[in-house]
Amino acid sequence: MAGEQRDFETHQFIPQDYFAEVKREELCPHDRPLELDVGCGDGRFLMEMAAKFPDRQFLGTERLLGRVRKVCRKAKRRDLSNLKVLRLESGYALEWLLPAESFDRVHLLFPDPWPKKKHHGRRMVQKSSLPHFARVLKPGGEFLFKTDHPAYFEAAMECLTEATFFKSLTWEDEMFYPQTDFEELWLGQGKPIHRAHFKKIS
Ligand SMILES: C[S@@+](CC[C@H](N)C(=O)[O-])C[C@H]1O[C@@H](n2cnc3c(N)ncnc32)[C@H](O)[C@@H]1O
Repeated sequence: MAGEQRDFETHQFIPQDYFAEVKREELCPHDRPLELDVGCGDGRFLMEMAAKFPDRQFLGTERLLGRVRKVCRKAKRRDLSNLKVLRLESGYALEWLLPAESFDRVHLLFPDPWPKKKHHGRRMVQKSSLPHFARVLKPGGEFLFKTDHPAYFEAAMECLTEATFFKSLTWEDEMFYPQTDFEELWLGQGKPIHRAHFKKIS
């Protein structure tokens, strides 16, 4: 348990003040590209990215303590010093806590689809939340989204294409982009994966 606590200390990002906007330097002491994985789950994507790009800094947000612990433990074992995890509700982090205009890329991979109509308000991508994603992105920063859920994808695309601060980009197949645990699960069940790549233009 004491060892687990130490893994937690080195790889968990704990803001100095949960009620003030974090400074970019607090997250990323070096002036290197910064990327965010919203709802990182067990962190497979985050870890593969951090290992491939040691000169970039990665932050995951995740609300489940068990998953945060798992990512921290694995990151410590793999000696990934460029990766941290913030245990917090992502909506709050995007709207209030994370530094404005600081991230080069924000990844939102297989967020809960909330299929029932009465739960659509809980979806991470909706008209009211897009300004919060845009808030943390640098001008020219990129938003990458994947889901297995066709109706969620359709609704998300409607909001994204209507947003005046985003411009659609082509998803380049050559881009290094590791599979997540959920992606592997859905592909194993033969589900098609929907993906979108946008750029912040203002
Ligand atoms: C379906 S899983 C996808 C995990 C990972 N991105 C993947 O593709 O394997 C959604 C993850 O987002 C987390 N999550 C959902 N809503 C969240 C929120 N509001 N804030 C932080 N984490 C959240 C869940 O705990 C879960 O780990």
